[in-house]
Amino acid sequence: MSNYITTPIYYVNGEAHIGHAYTTFIADTMARFSRLRGEDTYFLTGTDEHGQKIEESAKKNGRSTKEFADEISESFKNLWDEFGISYDQFIRTTDDKHKLGVQNAFLKMFEKGDIYKGHYEGHYCVSCETFFPEIQLIDGEFCPDCGRSTSTVKEESYFFKLSEYEQKLLDYYDANPEFILPRSRRNEVINFVKGGLNDLSVTRTSFTWGVKMPESMQDDKHVMYVWLDALLNYVTALGYGSDEKNMDYWPATMHLVGKDILRFHAIYWPAFLMSLDLPLPKHIAAHGWWTRDGEKMSKSKGNVVIPKEVADAYGVENLRYFMMREVPFGQDGDFSQRAFIDRINSDLSNDLGNLLNRIIGMSGKYSEFHIDSQHVLEYHTKEVDAMNLVLDALEPFLDELQTHRYLEELWKLFTIGNKAIEEHAPWVKMKADKKDEALATVALVANVLARASVMLHPFMPETTNTVADALGFTINTESYQELIKKRTMLAAFTIKKVPPLFPRVEEPLIPEAPKAVIESHASKVEEPKIEEIEEDNLITFDQFFETTLKVGTVVEAEEVPKSKKLLKLQVDLGDARPRQIIAGIKTFYSAESLLNTQVCVVANLKPAKLMGNLSEGMLLAAKDEDGLCLIRPEKPRKAGAIIG
Ligand code: MSP
Repeated sequence: MSNYITTPIYYVNGEAHIGHAYTTFIADTMARFSRLRGEDTYFLTGTDEHGQKIEESAKKNGRSTKEFADEISESFKNLWDEFGISYDQFIRTTDDKHKLGVQNAFLKMFEKGDIYKGHYEGHYCVSCETFFPEIQLIDGEFCPDCGRSTSTVKEESYFFKLSEYEQKLLDYYDANPEFILPRSRRNEVINFVKGGLNDLSVTRTSFTWGVKMPESMQDDKHVMYVWLDALLNYVTALGYGSDEKNMDYWPATMHLVGKDILRFHAIYWPAFLMSLDLPLPKHIAAHGWWTRDGEKMSKSKGNVVIPKEVADAYGVENLRYFMMREVPFGQDGDFSQRAFIDRINSDLSNDLGNLLNRIIGMSGKYSEFHIDSQHVLEYHTKEVDAMNLVLDALEPFLDELQTHRYLEELWKLFTIGNKAIEEHAPWVKMKADKKDEALATVALVANVLARASVMLHPFMPETTNTVADALGFTINTESYQELIKKRTMLAAFTIKKVPPLFPRVEEPLIPEAPKAVIESHASKVEEPKIEEIEEDNLITFDQFFETTLKVGTVVEAEEVPKSKKLLKLQVDLGDARPRQIIAGIKTFYSAESLLNTQVCVVANLKPAKLMGNLSEGMLLAAKDEDGLCLIRPEKPRKAGAIIG
């Protein structure tokens, strides 16, 4: 069993921010977990260094492109080293081995007939390094993803026949429901592909900072499109197209990405791989975006959270814990020092830190820091059973990257430990001359903490090593097998004193986001900079496609008793059974008039109850002072037809 885990490779156009740290922390945690289980693991991270965006950033900084890329790439690598990120390889797309691999991949696709030469005419967003057809632009000019101005490009280009992979991709998503995680993001990708895929321009001639064409193509005015170059890093890192040394790790177990780059990973990348006759990764896992105090982060607002600054002040492992505990994987998260401090003081200091202190204190007082587990089962079967139930529940959460649920569940162990101490009050037992019983409780709690530390280890490696050291054991695959898989108790503990692990934090330790962030709301109207418009008012294509809209046929309609406004409809959306939708449209439509007509439905809303009736969707309607009218397809469509 081997696991290959990757982060995105980061653009070298600026320093690392909290979003980069988040992806890297999760990937590192997954890699550490895999190693703890004793599985052969390869963990890749690195930097994405080609393309117009980097060329322009270097120019702005008055540097040569290579010098600039070297410096920023180095700063990412140093940061990950300082943070103890356990990568096995740090790839740079400027590495010769990578460039060779990309050229060979290009050749293979070309020889297969998947790449052809043509002309591109369209609009390019340098910031997203993406082409858009005119129809997708906002106001005919601005990028639908980031809102920045696009430039019109007309150039000779090689194209990848993405259109030919449309059905193959859909079949693949269908056969592999866990390919895209969280599953809630699948629809968005499927809808995008169903909307039709255009062939993809995969070379550029308007700049030179990219991987050159393979020599045998004799076409050196082209360089590779940066996303083709970048995505291939996941296989060139293993030696694809060069020494093939580590290709046994392919296919990847998991590519971790942010939701903004899911489309590239879940559509382009599998199509490229199919073209190369390589197997597809098992999971593409997309996380949400981080905001700061509820605001989008941006350089212009000066509110970007710099991970190094936060880690220096609060400790990198506390930051890891906070980020992975605070946010359900896949959803957007907010960084606020208040929330962070609360987690440190309550979860880490009160629950975990306190438990260790109590063990150190009691074992010192009652038994000269030696504890043995021989009487635990005599007095504590209830707690041992409860502990085993928690351990049973834990690991499945990580299969779907539900780090917050995993940690929430894990924390129940500290509750079991702290509660056992309160309920059994070993100090009372000691006074009553029941030393065995008192020490059984201390040993129970030491075992609870030992097991919790093993399971927390991938999240907080150094901290848990300190806990294990204080308890007198070592966390490794062997102790994972013994304590977690076999549920063996540690026979004896020799406890060591350690300073408190989590000093309480009373006040924010880094400056709060600049005031200008708040004031900038007021100034927005006078200064409609495109970055700011993008950040507050517009949604991306991806966000739009989070909504599933379908055409439905009303097959039953009746009034909801005692309601002035509500109708109860059964709407056929092409599924096995019709959906029940409660719609507030009785003032405008009678139940009979709706029968056998078509409507447009938001089909992926969480069900809700209205006057005790379950509603499993919402109808689209337009309302103004003249009343309300339903939005319907211009011509009849099949029930369930996708709108978008
Ligand atoms: N170079 C490409 C990735 C190529 S992978 C073959 C890229 N680089 S990036 O540096 O712009 O972004 C890297 C990652 O950071 C992405 O996964 C992106 O989602 C993530 N984040 C950028 N800003 C973020 C937040 N504010 N919050 C969370 N993650 C964010 O894209």
